[in-house]
Amino acid sequence: MRVLLLLLLLAGCVGKISGTPGTSDGGCPPEGKNDEIRLALAPACASCHTTGNKPYFASLEAFENGLVYDPKWVNKDDPERSGLIQLLRGTAPGSYPQMPPGAPWAGSIDDLLAWIRDLPARGAVNEGPSPAAFTVRRLRADEMVVSLMDQLGLGPEDFVDTSNPDWRNQEFTARGGRLFVWPTDWAPGISQQYVSDKRATERYETLGGAVVLQGRRKDVGLGPSAVQTLVQMSQAWCGLAVDKPGNTAVLRHVTLADKSATKAAQIHQNIAQLSLRMLGDVPAEAEVTELYEQVYLPLEPASTRAAWVGVCAALVRHPKWLSY
Ligand code: HEC
Repeated sequence: MRVLLLLLLLAGCVGKISGTPGTSDGGCPPEGKNDEIRLALAPACASCHTTGNKPYFASLEAFENGLVYDPKWVNKDDPERSGLIQLLRGTAPGSYPQMPPGAPWAGSIDDLLAWIRDLPARGAVNEGPSPAAFTVRRLRADEMVVSLMDQLGLGPEDFVDTSNPDWRNQEFTARGGRLFVWPTDWAPGISQQYVSDKRATERYETLGGAVVLQGRRKDVGLGPSAVQTLVQMSQAWCGLAVDKPGNTAVLRHVTLADKSATKAAQIHQNIAQLSLRMLGDVPAEAEVTELYEQVYLPLEPASTRAAWVGVCAALVRHPKWLSY
């Protein structure tokens, strides 16, 4: 409906738009062809990029903030090297070479290159940030640690001996094999010498945490080593959550005795519940089925524990979990 309305609005100045971009007046949008391009791409992109992580197609503003005026994606000085063009051609250098995933874009790349060459400068088209602007970012390391513990029904006591109320300011022993991650700002400046498990602080650094002593700043990039740490941490912590007596964070509608042969509906329900808990959105039925068929079922023959750890860890790696 909204798209239709926009098309109608645009119809009044089509000549203008395809004529001289950036010099519009009257009823034409000031952003030249940006909205035309957005609507041309939307059928191939909007299904995945309207809500959640990377909502480039939620609005013209999101499109401009997230893609058009980020030189990484749209490079006016060298249109061919724009990330967007490379994605559409399937030659992007990052972890996602092709958008839309799977098949090359069916539209005209030449039209896009012409649009990029003529792109009006940002200052001319936008008054500045607005509340609806594109503001997705990755969770910081400390947010990851705190929110994952919380979502999984875990606390520091599951990782270290907390019988001394002042444990954070004493030397303490992290229990082995649990992949504890020690956010150094829990005891700023002194933490390094207190945690017996040095790897716990190293993991925190790998996730991009700030380290006060070394003057290291927070890093919210998500390189391979951060991802690797997160994968290991999610598997270990999901396992702890499943094993913790009385903890219903992961297993709410099922127990480890329930198997797909007789309890498929409950397993579905539990996946939906866990997904809601971890990602904060009611999952689409297709997403639940995908987790069930592609993660849960292949792991169940090993053990139901392995299957639930797998589902739980997959949700931690979900783009929606990683950003907010
Ligand atoms: C089937 C779902 C799907 C479709 C359709 C889709 N994308 Fe994506 N896109 C993703 C996923 C998943 C990611 C990577 C996960 C993330 O970071 O959000 C992504 C990432 C991106 C990124 C960031 C890539 C990076 O390396 O950071 C851009 C830019 C992007 N998509 C643009 C588009 C455009 C433009 C289209 C349409 C031509 C499109 N996508 C179609 C699912 C999709």
